Amino acid sequence: MERVQCWEVFALMSLVIISAFVKTGEAQSKSFLINCGTNSSVNVDGRRWVGDLVPDGNLNLSSPSIAASTAALSDSSNFGPLYETARFFTESLNYTFEGIHGNYFVRLHFCPFSFGNYNVNESAFDVVANGLKLVSKFNVPSEISHKNSNSQSSGSNSSSFFLIKEYILPINMDVLVVEFLPVKGSLGFINAIEIVPIVDKLFADSISRVGDNSVNLSGRSIQTMYRLNVGGSEVKSNQDSNLWRTWEVDFSYMFTANAGSEISNSSNITHASANDSSVAPLLVYETARTMSNTGVLEKRFNMSWKFEVDPDFDYLIRLHFCELVFNVPKQRIFRIYINNRTAADNFDVFERSGGINKAYHQDYIDAVSSKTKTLWIQLGPETAAGAAGTDALLNGLEIFKLSQSGSLAYVEPYDSTGNSVGNSKTKILWEGIGAGVTSVVMLGVIISFIYCFCRRQREKLSGTKNNSPGWRPLFLNGSILNNSANGKRATGSQYPYGSVASTRVGKQFTLPEICAATNNFDDSLVIGVGGFGKVYKGEIEDGTLVAIKRSNPQSEQGLAEFETEIEMLSKLRHRHLVSMIGFCDEQNEMILVYEYMANGTLRSHLFGSDLSPLTWKQRLEACIGAARGLYYLHTGADRGIIHRDVKTTNILLDEKFVAKMSDFGLSKTGPALDHTHVSTAVKGSFGYLDPEYYRRQHLTEKSDVYSFGVVLFEVVCARAVINPSLPKDQINLAEWAMGWQRQRSLETIIDSRLKGNYSPESLKKFGEIAEKCLADEGKNRPTMGEVLWYLEYVLQLQEAWMCTNNAENSFSSSQVLGVLKEAAAEKKQEPHSLDEDTNSGGKMVCQE
Ligand SMILES: *[C@@H]1O[C@H](CO)[C@@H](O)[C@H](O)[C@H]1NC(C)=O
Ligand SMILES: *[C@@H]1O[C@H](CO)[C@@H](O)[C@H](O)[C@H]1NC(C)=O
Ligand SMILES: *[C@@H]1O[C@H](CO)[C@@H](O)[C@H](O)[C@H]1NC(C)=O
Ligand SMILES: *[C@@H]1O[C@H](CO)[C@@H](O)[C@H](O)[C@H]1NC(C)=O
Ligand SMILES: *[C@@H]1O[C@H](CO)[C@@H](O)[C@H](O)[C@H]1NC(C)=O
Ligand SMILES: *[C@@H]1O[C@H](CO)[C@@H](O)[C@H](O)[C@H]1NC(C)=O
Ligand SMILES: *[C@@H]1O[C@H](CO)[C@@H](O)[C@H](O)[C@H]1NC(C)=O
Ligand SMILES: *[C@@H]1O[C@H](CO)[C@@H](O)[C@H](O)[C@H]1NC(C)=O
Ligand SMILES: *[C@@H]1O[C@H](CO)[C@@H](O)[C@H](O)[C@H]1NC(C)=O
Ligand SMILES: *[C@@H]1O[C@H](CO)[C@@H](O)[C@H](O)[C@H]1NC(C)=O
Ligand SMILES: *[C@@H]1O[C@H](CO)[C@@H](O)[C@H](O)[C@H]1NC(C)=O
Repeated sequence: MERVQCWEVFALMSLVIISAFVKTGEAQSKSFLINCGTNSSVNVDGRRWVGDLVPDGNLNLSSPSIAASTAALSDSSNFGPLYETARFFTESLNYTFEGIHGNYFVRLHFCPFSFGNYNVNESAFDVVANGLKLVSKFNVPSEISHKNSNSQSSGSNSSSFFLIKEYILPINMDVLVVEFLPVKGSLGFINAIEIVPIVDKLFADSISRVGDNSVNLSGRSIQTMYRLNVGGSEVKSNQDSNLWRTWEVDFSYMFTANAGSEISNSSNITHASANDSSVAPLLVYETARTMSNTGVLEKRFNMSWKFEVDPDFDYLIRLHFCELVFNVPKQRIFRIYINNRTAADNFDVFERSGGINKAYHQDYIDAVSSKTKTLWIQLGPETAAGAAGTDALLNGLEIFKLSQSGSLAYVEPYDSTGNSVGNSKTKILWEGIGAGVTSVVMLGVIISFIYCFCRRQREKLSGTKNNSPGWRPLFLNGSILNNSANGKRATGSQYPYGSVASTRVGKQFTLPEICAATNNFDDSLVIGVGGFGKVYKGEIEDGTLVAIKRSNPQSEQGLAEFETEIEMLSKLRHRHLVSMIGFCDEQNEMILVYEYMANGTLRSHLFGSDLSPLTWKQRLEACIGAARGLYYLHTGADRGIIHRDVKTTNILLDEKFVAKMSDFGLSKTGPALDHTHVSTAVKGSFGYLDPEYYRRQHLTEKSDVYSFGVVLFEVVCARAVINPSLPKDQINLAEWAMGWQRQRSLETIIDSRLKGNYSPESLKKFGEIAEKCLADEGKNRPTMGEVLWYLEYVLQLQEAWMCTNNAENSFSSSQVLGVLKEAAAEKKQEPHSLDEDTNSGGKMVCQE
């Protein structure tokens, strides 16, 4: 019984991908029901769940992982026996399913229990399905308790809480790989995996947005957040035809519970359209909620349901209706509000569905911002309708989250009271700094594993034990000193380990100062979280806003290495590098204080957020700023530094939209490290990675140039560099954009918001630069200096074009080039200043 209550309390989380719904016809009807962590199979729910250790040609499990089991769970809910075993893992684990094609529900079942020394309370892991991130840093107990804190019912036996996440994935490569990736040093677990084919189409291709145009759902992923049987009891999975969905009761989500009364009638209901037979079981339509009891004459209120949702996503709201009482129209006319905006007025179910007992549904899309984090669904009186017709009706309700930038994962920091913190804008801000640990390409993980292993072995042999490959948490994607690329760089030995204290430059903060700046590490000031720890927004004594990065206590970094890092970092000062202001190393804390970047990441201004898009000129300026930062790293310091993780989330914008490179932290240069060549683990972010580096593990500045080329295309197209939900040839931005660029038709795929507002000539040149940057071999790519020079030229073209479009008389591009060349000639080998943003003296002014 208690388990059933839990079920009612905790929403069924589900996740649906609905792209590629076109070719569903040939979907095979094979289900996979996997009982994880065992070689025994159980019958629950009327279905047979096969142990994941039972040999099956279509399911492969990558080791290592732990088969765990617990004593029989006290209560006998549907899934009890299924949840007595689980697979625990501390390293990446894959379930590979073969022989499946089409659209599938994928449900992940989690029921935490402790096993041996493994504490599920500390679980934290990502789940990725065929490249699509489903959840990030997922902690089941905290998700459960967070959900619990919103619900009215309590007192359930916490040892038997469980959570189901449900997905629909379009699988078009005959294989599904579900990857479980525990956060370093943490563990993850999974109790059961359920894969059920969907034969019918569940969603239309395009759905209208509240108060706006319709949205094309093709290529978007969906997560079902809530699924309610309004006005009735729970519809269990085995009551839902072939799709095994669960429909919760709606009562606990109602804002004013007595504002609606339940009605039901099970006679002779049919689907209004024969195509809808899978949309919902008829059981859902047999019950409904209407506006209060008939005794109330003046129905001047709304029936309201309130839902907690993840901010900064679009949501698809599906309302299910079926008129059960009246057999003439105009008996119930109402308005539908979604987040206080009118989604529909003069809504008459009878008219829309075509009669009594006709099951009908209506879809809307609305965005939820970080300010609200809630979704209100309200049905209320239609002012135009007479008193007689004032009534509302709702039978069922589903809320789906649509993916943003190819991901459905949302990381919400929780504090101890379960309050969520941060807001979207600032949250995006620091994701670039250090958070990249999860974005490291999988192959890189393997190679780095092998590399570390080999190095460990080597170190063991040489007897040095205190220079573990080390500390990355603060500088996860940190660059490394390029001592070897062309043999003329200085070695790292001029910064000997240990002689740091006297030469450090950054300000040393005391712990009380840091505590004051962050209000004692107040979680409401967290602007970013990553494997390294948290980043807080803070204000230091003199009123300067700063970003404070505090590394996890579990960090492997030794204090001495930390100090080396500080010294290196504080020497890197440039207008286009996010600068380190200081640090704090008291009481084993390893804290870095950075300049605060008010406008967040470049990426957040390109796509995936509500921020207004940058103009072409602003984009060019941002690229130029980033290029200057990189150019300085490569050439400006007395040694070449390779950034190694150039991407739009590592380009931050200050309050004046000046772009700065971030996360250029240094790497290991300890004396014992072998620097004969710079070929540490392949690091970097999927989609940006230099193929040459990838192949040969030979790192040069040209690897940064390659990544920068990808950034340039991302700036033009304003889409994710990897978007697995797109057709195969479009998944990888670099490949796709290069295809168009080679045909000299980059304008075909330009961000539609730029259309008409850019100089075609500047785009042409820009495309050529990006293309050169992506040359297969490093030696054929330009240097950052050359890239910078060309980008400045592109900016001049754009400015000239803007002048032309404003004032008729202007100059031609050849004139522009002339001015630029002159300026460059003046400066000889150094076509641009390292520290200033002056346009090399060739500043153009519109000639009136
Ligand atoms: C599989 O089941 C057999 C008994 O049926 C048992 O002896 C064996 O230890 C089990 N193997 C694992 C890995 O659980
Ligand atoms: C929860 O269930 C377990 C048995 O599974 C039982 O030992 C425990 O007392 C229960 N706790 C509560 C608070 O009911
Ligand atoms: C899991 O699958 C992914 C994608 O196919 C692959 O990159 C990764 O290496 C696999 N991991 C393991 C542990 O097999
Ligand atoms: C699982 O492994 C077996 C043997 O290695 C192989 O024949 C089979 O194709 C694999 N199946 C999947 C789904 O990878
Ligand atoms: C996990 O957390 C719950 C609630 O905070 C606590 O009751 C339980 O003892 C914890 N379990 C372990 C193994 O620490
Ligand atoms: C939605 O977009 C896809 C590809 O982007 C296109 O093929 C399809 O026709 C579009 N559908 C609608 C209804 O616009
Ligand atoms: C159910 O609906 C039928 C017609 O569809 C009607 O005749 C019957 O009276 C209704 N029953 C109830 C209990 O409202
Ligand atoms: C059931 O509905 C069908 C079509 O709507 C109608 O023809 C039939 O008479 C109904 N049967 C009953 C018992 O109401
Ligand atoms: C049902 O689907 C078919 C084929 O997909 C389509 O031609 C027809 O218009 C649909 N009917 C309705 C009522 O949507
Ligand atoms: C119903 O809700 C909408 C949106 O929140 C609001 O504008 C309207 O005034 C409400 N109507 C009544 C009668 O409370
Ligand atoms: C929307 O309406 C609800 C209920 O009337 C109210 O509590 C909430 O504050 C409103 N939200 C906004 C943003 O006005």
